[in-house]
Order: sequence, then structure tokens, then C-alpha cells
Amino acid sequence: MTTPDTTDAAPAGSGLLAGKTVLVTGVITDASIGFHIAKHCQLHGAQVILTAFGRPSLVKAIAKRLPERPPVIELDVQSADDLAALEGRVREHADGLDGVVHSIGFAPPSCLGQDFLEAPWQDVSVALEVSAYSYASLARAVRPLLRPGASILGLDFDPRFSMPFYNWMSVAKNALEAVNRYVARELGPEGVRSNLIAAGPVKTLAAKAIAGDALGPGGELDQMQDEWAARAPLGWDVDDPTAVATTAVALLSDLMAATTGTVIYADGGAGTVAFAGRED
Ligand SMILES: NC(=O)c1ccc[n+]([C@@H]2O[C@H](COP(=O)([O-])OP(=O)(O)OC[C@H]3O[C@@H](n4cnc5c(N)ncnc54)[C@H](O)[C@@H]3O)[C@@H](O)[C@H]2O)c1
Repeated sequence: MTTPDTTDAAPAGSGLLAGKTVLVTGVITDASIGFHIAKHCQLHGAQVILTAFGRPSLVKAIAKRLPERPPVIELDVQSADDLAALEGRVREHADGLDGVVHSIGFAPPSCLGQDFLEAPWQDVSVALEVSAYSYASLARAVRPLLRPGASILGLDFDPRFSMPFYNWMSVAKNALEAVNRYVARELGPEGVRSNLIAAGPVKTLAAKAIAGDALGPGGELDQMQDEWAARAPLGWDVDDPTAVATTAVALLSDLMAATTGTVIYADGGAGTVAFAGRED
């Protein structure tokens, strides 16, 4: 898939997100989907605030690779203290928020690639808390900051069908889709939208954790990625999350003002095709 080049920054004061402030979670490397969303938000004129989970100095170092260096505040979505402190931490840098990006996922190893039926509830509950419930926790924590017209979005991986490895993370993504609908229902009357982007596979730390030992040339992850590229009518490049990031920009902008509670697919179209068959 070829993605139009949007790497040129919008002139100051212009761009789809000019004047907007966007809180972006989930940056841990410069391959993180959150990193690419933060980058394209800045390129489209937004002021970005990043959150860091556990390793603020690492995230601050990664943040230097963005077009502009954003403030970094701490947030562990499993910490009630962090969630309670979030409003104050944001207010040190901005009066309010126009966009919030939840780019967070985690599941213990027993939930991924192992015997599905053997995963213990204590591990499954962590996967569900971090990957699904936290979308509601984050929405609640930022609610006092949200300006009318604000847009919240999260990252999904099409969970409609069972697949190898993804196991309880797929269950968590199904839960996330339901949580998204309820967040949209709750915040709609306040003029706030909530949507998910179902992205195709991207090579990130989280993707490697899911593939576990099956990495490496010819491994299961490669096979899944090859299969995705073959199935997607537009093709798919696991090393290029640009189109996922620009889809986020569209959802954060005022252009999608009537879209809420739904899932937008940025997957090359793979989710609409049952069997591979594309011929180049
Ligand atoms: N990589 C893919 O193929 C792919 C495809 C579709 C959707 N997604 C989703 O995109 C999102 C981002 O993942 P990624 O692929 O960029 O991987 P990543 O590893 O770069 O990002 C995952 C982030 O989750 C954060 N996180 C984990 N536990 C947390 C906690 N308790 N509190 C706060 N943050 C926490 C990590 O610090 C990390 O920044 C996830 O929701 C993932 O499921 C990924």
C-alpha cells in the first residue's frame, strides 16, 4: 500500500488539528503506533502531550525524535493514584484537551500463544484491565478536561474471528469494542466522540510480545503479516503505520464530527476479505 507523503509540517497555525491539544498514550519506542500518531498530530498542527508508563526517561528520549519535543507526564492505567492525578498533570501544560489517544495494550504470556483454556483468571484479568477497562478509566480521568467536540480514540486489532496466538488479547479487543460503544454513549451528550481504529499488523514491541518465540524469518509473525498483505486489496506494509496515524488525525479532526461509537478499519481492507487472492 502506498501512503501519501504527509511528512511536511503544516505551516504554523494551520493544519487539520491547528489549535487542538491532544494527549497521546502508549509511546515506548519510535515504532509505537502512539509515536506515529503523535508525530502526525504535530505535523497537522496539534500541541501534543505524551504519557509514559513506568519509564519516563526512556519516553522523554524517544519524544526528542518527534518534530517538536512534547511534555511527558506519567500514567499507569492500573494505578488509581495516576488516574486521579492525570487532570492536574495535564493542567500543568494545557487548559483542556481536544483529543485523547489510548494506544495501550498488554497481556501476560499465558494469555498469548499458549493453550487458550489454561490461561488463569489472574492473568486474563490483567489483560482485560490494561487493554479494555483502561479505555473507560482513561475517559473518566480526562472527562473534566474535554472540550466540546473532543475526540477520544483507541487502537483495535480486528477481533471478530479467532486466530493463532492472539487468544485472550482478542477477547480483550472484543471487550474494548463494547467499552468504546458505551464511552461514546456516555460522552456523546457532552459533544465528545469515541472511536477505535482497527489497524493492520505493525512491527512494534507489543506485536513481538504477541508473537513470542515465533519471531524470525519465516516465523508465525512473518506468516501472519504475509497473509495480511496478500489478503488486503490495498496490500499492507508492517513497517509503515503512517496510514494508521493519519486515520487518527482524521478522527481527531472536526471532519468526522458525526462519527462515534464505531470502529474505523485502517488495515488495507484485509478485514473485508475472507481468503487471500490478490494478484500483483
Ligand atoms: N502492533 C500491531 O500490530 C497492532 C495492531 C492493531 C492494534 N494494535 C494496538 O495498538 C496499541 C499500541 O500498541 P503498539 O503495537 O504500538 O505497541 P507498543 O508496545 O509500542 O505500545 C503498547 C503501549 O502500551 C503501554 N502500556 C502497557 N501497559 C500499560 C499501563 N499499565 N499503563 C499505561 N500504558 C501501558 C506500553 O508502555 C506501550 O507504550 C495497542 O492497543 C495494540 O493492541 C497494535
